[in-house]
Amino acid sequence: MAWPDLSRLEQLLDTRYVGRRLVYYSSVGSTQDIARREAEAGAPEGTLVLADEQTAGRGRLGRSWASPPGQNLYLTLVLRPPLEVLKRLTIVAPLAVARAVADTTGIQAGIKWPNDVWIGRRKLAGVLLESEVQGGQVRYCLLGIGINVNMDVEAIPDLAEIATSLRRELGREVPREDVLASLLHHLEALYEEARGGGPVLEEWRARLITLGQEVTVRFGDQVEEGLAEDVDEEGRLLLRRRDGSRIAIEAGDVTLRGS
Ligand code: BTN
Repeated sequence: MAWPDLSRLEQLLDTRYVGRRLVYYSSVGSTQDIARREAEAGAPEGTLVLADEQTAGRGRLGRSWASPPGQNLYLTLVLRPPLEVLKRLTIVAPLAVARAVADTTGIQAGIKWPNDVWIGRRKLAGVLLESEVQGGQVRYCLLGIGINVNMDVEAIPDLAEIATSLRRELGREVPREDVLASLLHHLEALYEEARGGGPVLEEWRARLITLGQEVTVRFGDQVEEGLAEDVDEEGRLLLRRRDGSRIAIEAGDVTLRGS
């Protein structure tokens, strides 16, 4: 079956502008690079760059993102939010993924702060946000999302123990168009909510699997250990160190102790 099934996607898609312009590649280095080119050329907000395969898919902190063909979702959205909404996209994106997973499979996924989507103790999806800000204004931002939909994680030695896919969880394949249409629906709804100052933070907080856990957080060249107590209204992680002091961390890489 050709991917994507455009008539199925068209049938399912109910957004106003997110994903209404589709730029599709069967194989690409990274959808982020194509989306950057599109954004620089004036692509309208909500432009969706979608690929079946990425040969140089990238994750946060310079990591690579396994992107084999025929199995998963690799996409980047071009958005042009006001500066104060930009930060909230790290909340909006994993939440939209979790909602889409719940809608299409019934599985309740968790979020590992700030924006990894996990099922149990395995990673299902990741978010990469790249932005161009000039003179206090967002020229554009590139919201990249990778979701392991039908990947056979056991076939990839580096991922066999730490990643999962919807197929692995359910024991059956899931149509990627269904997950994509639901994801775009929730992204638009949550993005609009974030722009209007709506309460996206509380739903994100309720899904955080990080809270109440002993964690190690790496950011810049700093490493902090302690109890992940809470998040503040900006989405920063509030970490209680062993000496009793508390710090707020804006972005970083969290390892849950014992995983
Ligand atoms: C992470 O968890 O480290 C973020 C992973 C982001 C992967 C997606 S796949 C689509 C887009 N293109 C990329 O090269 N990366 C993002």
